[in-house]
Amino acid sequence: MIELVNVQKRYDARIALDIPQLSIEPGERLAVIGPNGSGKSTLIRLLAGVLAPDAGTVQAGNLPRGEIGYLPQQPYAFDLNVQKNVELALAGEAEKAKIAQAALERVGLLHLSKARANRLSGGETQRMALARVLARPRKLLLLDEPTASADIQAMELIERAILVYADQTGCTLVFSSHAPSQAMRLSTRVLALDSGKIGELGETAQVLQSPQAESTRAFLKSWRI
Ligand SMILES: Nc1ncnc2c1ncn2[C@@H]1O[C@H](COP(=O)(O)OP(=O)(O)OP(=O)(O)O)[C@@H](O)[C@H]1O
Ligand SMILES: [Mg+2]
Repeated sequence: MIELVNVQKRYDARIALDIPQLSIEPGERLAVIGPNGSGKSTLIRLLAGVLAPDAGTVQAGNLPRGEIGYLPQQPYAFDLNVQKNVELALAGEAEKAKIAQAALERVGLLHLSKARANRLSGGETQRMALARVLARPRKLLLLDEPTASADIQAMELIERAILVYADQTGCTLVFSSHAPSQAMRLSTRVLALDSGKIGELGETAQVLQSPQAESTRAFLKSWRI
């Protein structure tokens, strides 16, 4: 189980995240939604361990680094070809090339496996980074806006790849999204952030179809699900 207790994260004097308590159960799929600047990336970075809280504790089930797959909102491309970028996730494995190609195929990027990674478009870079994360089984998958730069076809492909991966590995999935419709398709629970605080937390259909908090209602107003 993942647990946050009395977590606060500040940037300068401003509080970006303030969460008294949050538990995430093994195998659940949690969508973190909320407007720009509401703290989605901050929460995911705290869970990934790339950011430390100013107060409180973040427990990610004592998982070793290798069991956590983290896709940053702005993923990084190493100056290698695309396939080698994915192979970086496969330190010990035999048949690295085959595994990396299979991961690239799942995100629709196999045709670019020999291309130079730092010449890819934004959407392609994001898909490559996702292939790097999905290349091997993990216990916890943290995806920060995994389809932010994807076109509609790519979005469908990526969502399917994520769902298949979650089903096959039984991993816990935490992802952020601007799109309630994506939260509907991928998650079992939704956490709606409101200026760094928990605006609402509950089962996906409950939160998206009959939101209780005024902030969630305001956020969902312009979306048709
Ligand atoms: N490194 C930083 N230094 C200063 N302020 C930061 C930093 N990172 C984030 N912030 C601020 O903290 C708040 C939360 O940022 P965060 O990136 O978590 O939001 P978000 O919900 O992911 O937004 P978006 O939808 O734009 O990705 C914002 O007001 C942002 O300006
Ligand atoms: Mg963000």
